[in-house]
Amino acid sequence: MEPRATSSAAAPLRRQFHVLVGVTGSVAALKLPLLVSKLLDIPDLEVAVVTTERAKHFYSPRDVPVTLYSDADEWEMWKRRSDPVLHIDLRRWADLMLVAPLDANTLGKVASGICDNLLTCVIRAWDRSKPLLFCPAMNTAMWEHPITEQQVGQLKDFGYIEIPCVAKKLVCGDQGLGAMAEVGTIVGKVKEVLSQGSSQQS
Ligand SMILES: Cc1cc2nc3c(=O)[nH]c(=O)nc-3n(C[C@H](O)[C@H](O)[C@H](O)COP(=O)(O)O)c2cc1C
Repeated sequence: MEPRATSSAAAPLRRQFHVLVGVTGSVAALKLPLLVSKLLDIPDLEVAVVTTERAKHFYSPRDVPVTLYSDADEWEMWKRRSDPVLHIDLRRWADLMLVAPLDANTLGKVASGICDNLLTCVIRAWDRSKPLLFCPAMNTAMWEHPITEQQVGQLKDFGYIEIPCVAKKLVCGDQGLGAMAEVGTIVGKVKEVLSQGSSQQS
């Protein structure tokens, strides 16, 4: 997870900006390949993905042209004291985290501090001085349950940025709020946050 070395001594030491995408088991995880490809269109951006096991059901790793981490990597990587702890390395590596889609299950875990897989461990260990954006995605009935507002509010209190869900006809046939924001909206928000960060540095 080290920044790439430059090939020539004369090359500018411009480090790529690291975006870590977290993906959970919502049907909106179907859009992961499109989301990653649109993020990669942003100049100077390096992208990696952390997936939950359920999310794997909705995309093919062949369609995701970046490093994809899941729970097995965390446990296979660590055999002895000197070995890296993947969730800590990833939170160090990432400059920005984008959880898209964030399903109801992982929303509840993050709001209450549960960290029982690689993704929730990265989030639990997140450096809150760096941006974390989240895109809720769930069935309308789940979205309208009062616990959702509490949990989304909790994440915002942590300083995380909500990219609100939208209303449409959902894959299950229901009509209403709960669909993940459009990929264009999500990428636009990432660009906005990146430009705010770079203007603060200059
Ligand atoms: C076909 C299908 C679609 C699903 N879509 C959603 C969804 O959009 N939002 C959601 O909150 N849960 C959805 N679920 C339920 C989650 O996959 C389930 O809660 C799972 O335990 C989430 O695990 P994870 O948070 O570790 O990824 C769906 C389940 C299935 C079988």
